[in-house]
Amino acid sequence: MSEIAIVMGSKSDLISLKGAFDTLNSFKIGFTARVISAHRTPDAAADFAKHAEAEGFRVIICAAGMAAHLAGVIAAHTTLPVIGIPMASEPFNGFDALLAMVQMPPGIPVATVTAGKAGAKNAALLAVSILALSNPELAAKLKAFRAEQTRKVEEADASLQDELAKLN
Ligand code: RP5
Repeated sequence: MSEIAIVMGSKSDLISLKGAFDTLNSFKIGFTARVISAHRTPDAAADFAKHAEAEGFRVIICAAGMAAHLAGVIAAHTTLPVIGIPMASEPFNGFDALLAMVQMPPGIPVATVTAGKAGAKNAALLAVSILALSNPELAAKLKAFRAEQTRKVEEADASLQDELAKLN
């Protein structure tokens, strides 16, 4: 049983979601991934959302592009936290999906993250944060991830300073 579901509107979204899969794998968190479309398979979208809590999911990540209604439709049928990732596609490069996803009416929230590949990684990290609220071991791993990320930036800065010093 996995606690995180990743639902994408089309298999064409999969390539942009690798960062989410990699991130969850790095935290050793199992997940379920599905292709379900709010427009092309509306009954399946509603059905999935209505049964998600009983299936044991605790967070649902939805990725969709264009008129991206998937996250909103899923959120309409469940009280589980729903995280939306706007997918970039032609001709508006994800701005269309961002507005469709982020502009939910009051009462049905969708936590919309960055568009595209960066959003996939952030959606996974946000899902980890939610699970970490009730999982101290996971919370410690998340803090260690942040510390390592900080260390890498400091290392990059130190290396930049060395390179600049050599130029002077
Ligand atoms: C959305 O339409 C999907 O999430 C995808 O981002 C976009 C295009 O879908 P395909 O035509 O590639 O199946 O529903």
